[in-house]
Amino acid sequence: MPRKPLIAANWKMYKTPAQAQEYVKLFLPLVANHERDEVVLCPSFTSLSVVIAAVTGSGVGVGAQNMYSAEEGAFTGETSPLMLKAIGATHVILGHSERRQYFAETDESVNRKLKMALKHELTPIVCVGEVLAEREAGKTEEVLLRQTRGVLAGITAAEAAPMVIAYEPVWAIGTGKTATPQIASEAHRVIRGEVEKLLGAETAAALRILYGGSVKPDNATALMAEEEIDGALVGGASLDAQSFGKIVNY
Ligand code: 13P
Repeated sequence: MPRKPLIAANWKMYKTPAQAQEYVKLFLPLVANHERDEVVLCPSFTSLSVVIAAVTGSGVGVGAQNMYSAEEGAFTGETSPLMLKAIGATHVILGHSERRQYFAETDESVNRKLKMALKHELTPIVCVGEVLAEREAGKTEEVLLRQTRGVLAGITAAEAAPMVIAYEPVWAIGTGKTATPQIASEAHRVIRGEVEKLLGAETAAALRILYGGSVKPDNATALMAEEEIDGALVGGASLDAQSFGKIVNY
């Protein structure tokens, strides 16, 4: 079965609810009746509800950029998967490199969050990727294997089925330096190969692996032409409705 591409916007810490609502108004006509790809917007927590309301009936999904690995409790400042489900979120980004870099997330904490997201039927978009020093030291494969194993620890093939992985080389995020389609494909093959070892050929073949890192309207087509690339996780170029609309319509 062919893998349906997923194109997701990660707005990071941008946009007030009013700005988010305005964006959706401009964006929806650009993707009306768009069926080739699954399209998801990931605003910050404070804009989730307005975006969910604004996309109703459009087929566009809405995801959070993070969540905590408990259903409830004394965890000041955190958000539970139950809360995300209750407002109608469908997806959640987990283990983004900015969370790993600035908020001390590790493969272990991402693994706990992943289990919780799967349990509550939120589609997890789990991020992996090497930093520049690791690439330059020839350690990309080692890093991707370690992260893939770490985030998937203790998860069965049946449980993992809805999961999406995003390969986001940290040196390509927000830098304007995109991985070439070949570099991205090579990394995706490493990740898919490891998933095959851990969870079997069927799960690996069905797994969607997105590329993220300076995806723009002018490089989306070449990236998406790669058989190994099953979609994109877009930061900067997703903040403008026209620009993200062009990416979705690669
Ligand atoms: P940019 O598209 O701004 O490089 O960000 C990529 C990213 O981090 C998406 O999660």
